[in-house]
Amino acid sequence: MRKPLITGNWKMNGSAGLVETFGRAFAEIELPSPVDVVIHPPFPYLDAARRAFSDTPLGLGAQTLNPLSSGARTGEVSGQMLGEFGVEYVLVGHSERRQLFQESDEQVYERVVAALQAGISPILCVGETLEERDAGHSEEVVLRQVGYVMARLEPSQRRQMTLAYEPVWAIGTGRTATPEQAQQMMAAIRAYQAGFDRELAESLRLLYGGSMSADNARALLAQQDIDGGLIGGASLKVDDFIAICQSAG
Ligand code: PGA
Repeated sequence: MRKPLITGNWKMNGSAGLVETFGRAFAEIELPSPVDVVIHPPFPYLDAARRAFSDTPLGLGAQTLNPLSSGARTGEVSGQMLGEFGVEYVLVGHSERRQLFQESDEQVYERVVAALQAGISPILCVGETLEERDAGHSEEVVLRQVGYVMARLEPSQRRQMTLAYEPVWAIGTGRTATPEQAQQMMAAIRAYQAGFDRELAESLRLLYGGSMSADNARALLAQQDIDGGLIGGASLKVDDFIAICQSAG
């Protein structure tokens, strides 16, 4: 049985006040069933979030990391540094990083390895663009992104991974993949994984991301191969985010 994971990607949004709001709200609620919940605030809020979330079920995530552990990389942050702040998860390969910061599959792989070396669980994000979907290449694109990383990891490293399928056309657009479209891709990812590691394929958590909201979360999370959500916009509204967490039960 895979434990659901609901994870909130604040991107370059939020404030110190929002960190406090989440800390207070999650200190008071009971989540209905076993579910892991994580917030990925911007770097400057990590330490405040660690303190604000200490008496809550909220775990701490980061949004990216540099592949090196230290060095002359102005503006960058290493996995080792994130580990010092209690970061448990890190997003790698988000489509905004791939598109706006030109991160290649190779750089994504290097970041995954750096996170694993720092003891942080990577959430590997994959997804096709609208053009790729319309051209009928969705599965090929997504499985290439998954395979580029997963096929090169040791079995023990693969067990630390979470995958997030986020169709690029669904991110921040209000246009969610239908539960059937999302399930179809998740099943393809799990089947691909089973091709070289059957045991892992059963335990691997697969998240859906892309305009997931309090309204559509339940139908998406009810799908057999969807084990959670990577939430952008709706993770900035505490009531909506709590509602999504509650529908993961
Ligand atoms: P969204 O973002 O929920 O606002 O579509 C998801 C993401 O980018 O991770």
